[in-house]
Amino acid sequence: MSIHLGAKKGEIAPSVLLPGDPLRAKWIAETFFESPRLHNDVRGMLGYTGTYQGKPVSVQGTGMGVPSALIYCHELINDYGVKNLIRVGTAGSYHAEVKIRDIVIAMAASSTNGINNTRFVNMDYSPTANFELFQKAILFADKHHIPIKAGNVLTSDEFYEDDVNSYKHWADYGVLAVEMETSGLYTIAAKFKVKALSLLTISDSLVTGEKTSVAERESSFRKMIELALGVLAD
Ligand code: HPA
Repeated sequence: MSIHLGAKKGEIAPSVLLPGDPLRAKWIAETFFESPRLHNDVRGMLGYTGTYQGKPVSVQGTGMGVPSALIYCHELINDYGVKNLIRVGTAGSYHAEVKIRDIVIAMAASSTNGINNTRFVNMDYSPTANFELFQKAILFADKHHIPIKAGNVLTSDEFYEDDVNSYKHWADYGVLAVEMETSGLYTIAAKFKVKALSLLTISDSLVTGEKTSVAERESSFRKMIELALGVLAD
């Protein structure tokens, strides 16, 4: 057991998928894993372990935002020896060409959050995807004809911004989409010498105001999970 996870040592696989929503963790385990078993329900933050194509794999909900996600990532890495962390989340598009249901791979993550301001005072750190996982994702997507986009994303501390046009500044500098966890994940993965990648399905557009329905979200989400599991199974 760790402070926030009830799993016993050895009950979590070295590779973990990380959705923000704990019910999505349940859905992923029940839809894709062979013989899934609940390893955590502390605070309702569901986590499961099973196998995929015969290889052990886990899925763990992280909650929303960097502070919540980093509690789980820190404990997965340091208390359970997790080596590969793949976020499977949603994001809001910053460009007309980045459409609802597109899959975006975060090569890097800019942020509005404070964690790197306290680590790197008056300097910038660039939280970056692990190249090996990133390359595997690109190759798998190519082989299985899964269209993807890749680039910089913004990890924001706020879902409801004061200024609804503030996204344009980030968009001007090539940031593709906004979400709330990736910069934290990439930063601590680098610190603890493990591998991390963030896959994001576009669920809404700040440009057009469109949003996906629950049913649409599920089908595009399915493709992204196949991609994440393909990277791990390789
Ligand atoms: N903002 C922040 N995070 C998000 C969004 C958004 O519009 N959509 C999905 N995750």
